[in-house]
Amino acid sequence: MLGEVDVRVKTFNKRKLIIDTDPGIDDAVAIAIALFDETLDVKLITTVAGNVNVDKTTQNALKLVEFFGKNVPVAKGADKPLVLELEDASEIHGKSGLDGYEFKLPNRKPIEDRAIVAMKKIIMESDIPITLMPIGPLTNIALLLSVYPEVKGNIQEIVLMGGSTTRGNKTPMGEFNMATDPEAADIVFRSGVPIVMCGLDVGEDALLYPEDSERIKRLNKTGDMIYSLFKHYRGGSLHKGLKMYDSFAIAYILEPEMFETQDCYVAVETSSPLTKGCTVVDLNNYWGKEPNAKVCLGVDEDRFKEWLINAIAKCI
Ligand code: BDR
Ligand code: CA
Repeated sequence: MLGEVDVRVKTFNKRKLIIDTDPGIDDAVAIAIALFDETLDVKLITTVAGNVNVDKTTQNALKLVEFFGKNVPVAKGADKPLVLELEDASEIHGKSGLDGYEFKLPNRKPIEDRAIVAMKKIIMESDIPITLMPIGPLTNIALLLSVYPEVKGNIQEIVLMGGSTTRGNKTPMGEFNMATDPEAADIVFRSGVPIVMCGLDVGEDALLYPEDSERIKRLNKTGDMIYSLFKHYRGGSLHKGLKMYDSFAIAYILEPEMFETQDCYVAVETSSPLTKGCTVVDLNNYWGKEPNAKVCLGVDEDRFKEWLINAIAKCI
């Protein structure tokens, strides 16, 4: 059994992480990897309305934490985007958000504190700066930074999945997480906190093909669960290639050398009915503004896939 000192030694030097999520099949993969990586200390999972409503994303986060046997608190977040009504993505992830696997009904419940209160406490009490990994719409993060701006001083960086340098996947120019809550994305990109943007440029660059999914299935109980979800995931198709969007955020946190990046100024369109939610990435610095984000432009596809499979192999 580990003594208190051993536990302190074991958690010493680990990077502290808060995951803000709307599980979501690709969210489930990213969460699995984060929870089993020995260099990370996941302090909290917060949920947001996105792929499905927030009651479902919260239940899904609890199901995942219970499936993995981890004691990470789950805090429920925003019910809806700041201004828009929620248009979910249940056509991609199924009605429950995690269709395809029969999870046990979770015994645990969300903690009493709502997401931004729980995040604020953990960030303010932490001895080292915290990394935020939002892999859903940015509603909770925008609220956190607006209601408790004092947290900014103890955030290492925000590594998010969302946006694109070119086009969208929810609307012609809007990526799902950004277009679901453009006002929130705008607040986050203007916050001054260091941001890494893992968007569609990498999310659609490295697909998982049937042979990759088969390998994942055979790895362990987690691989088998993920494979069952994959059979119902409409982010691509099991046969033609699956898009692992949210896994790129955790991949960046753990192996940033896999990515080609550029520091740029990123603005979020919030008013145009045609392009609301579009991330306008000033790759050529036409505006002459200081960069506010490190934008992932490419990823080493083979390396990413090997990394992903090895990372899932570390799970139960
Ligand atoms: C993003 O949208 C959601 O459906 C996925 O979970 C991912 O976070 C990709 O655009
Ligand atoms: Ca997501």
